[in-house]
Amino acid sequence: MQLGVVGLGYWGPNLVRNALENPRYEDVWVWDRDPQRVQLIRRQYRAVRVASDFDEMLRNDAINAIAVATPVSTHFELGCSVLNAGKALLMEKPFTATVREARALRDLAEKKNGKLLIDHTFIYTSAVQKIKELRRKGDLGEIYYYDSVRVNLGLFQHDANVISDLAPHDLAIMDYLLEQSPTSISAVGVAHIDRRFENIAYLHLDFDNGLVAHFHLNWLSPVKIRQTLIGGSKKMLVYDDMEASDKIKVYDKGVQITRKDDVYKTLIQYRSGDLCVPQIRNVEALKVMMEHFADCVEKDAAPITDAASGIRVMQMLEAAQKSLKLGGKKIPLTYE
Ligand SMILES: NC(=O)c1ccc[n+]([C@@H]2O[C@H](COP(=O)([O-])OP(=O)(O)OC[C@H]3O[C@@H](n4cnc5c(N)ncnc54)[C@H](O)[C@@H]3O)[C@@H](O)[C@H]2O)c1
Repeated sequence: MQLGVVGLGYWGPNLVRNALENPRYEDVWVWDRDPQRVQLIRRQYRAVRVASDFDEMLRNDAINAIAVATPVSTHFELGCSVLNAGKALLMEKPFTATVREARALRDLAEKKNGKLLIDHTFIYTSAVQKIKELRRKGDLGEIYYYDSVRVNLGLFQHDANVISDLAPHDLAIMDYLLEQSPTSISAVGVAHIDRRFENIAYLHLDFDNGLVAHFHLNWLSPVKIRQTLIGGSKKMLVYDDMEASDKIKVYDKGVQITRKDDVYKTLIQYRSGDLCVPQIRNVEALKVMMEHFADCVEKDAAPITDAASGIRVMQMLEAAQKSLKLGGKKIPLTYE
């Protein structure tokens, strides 16, 4: 497999490094419109091959896949070019700038019969994969709530608010784990520093069956917290991404109500069983993602983070931004 990587800023070099380390990628071609970035990568990774421009990458029949790691405003245009050139597309998150663009890219991929994978990197972490396994086995029971906190100090973005910056990760993880989509979303937030962009936001998501989700996003926190609480009818878990090894703790805790005819005799029983800390593999998520992308291209595997999941995340993000502008109004969500 030969991979092209376009965009060699902060994130692109991570894709380059992982592709070079993976024997399934024979050649790795790179391109950035900033020649200094190209020179830097050429010096850092001597094995890379440098394309003279993006069009040359598109015309090169030996390259069968291209990763786009440029700013989101360019994703749609570059993504269309990749698919139109008949190559598989690895698109950085967030999928596109708008839901409309996301749907158009999905349609183009279907028309061209082209593979499309979105790099929602967190999905490929061992911790998220372990939670998915627990959920699939039914260990948690019916899910009652999903509560996520992602706060730290900075980095203040110059062109986006805290929802655009931090929520794509959490919404993608929730979408993957719950396999259910919210029926509505509301968001409130405040811009304390730069009046144009909210630095703190709270998202509230409703689902059909009483499931509820909440996200706290904040750039102005004295401590860094990346924690998710998932409450189920059988077990509950805490996923703490700041923990070095024990990232997931599964609590066999819950309540059970024994109803009696006489309402005053209704009994609430608390269950407090074992705490389990599952073993998780220590492997870089991007490595897993790159291996999966190679499977998609070479073995026709179905992408885990496919266009449909990217569209759902975009829909939630767009609705959250709309709600924010309307002071927290509930925005209904429907899916194609
Ligand atoms: N998966 C993750 O966890 C993760 C983490 C960080 C960033 N990202 C995503 O990666 C993408 C890039 O983010 P970044 O932080 O690396 O940005 P960046 O600004 O550091 O780098 C972007 C690079 O793209 C180049 N570029 C811009 N337009 C171009 C074009 N039309 N053709 C060629 N090169 C072009 C710029 O010169 C720059 O070097 C974004 O979509 C971002 O959301 C993903």
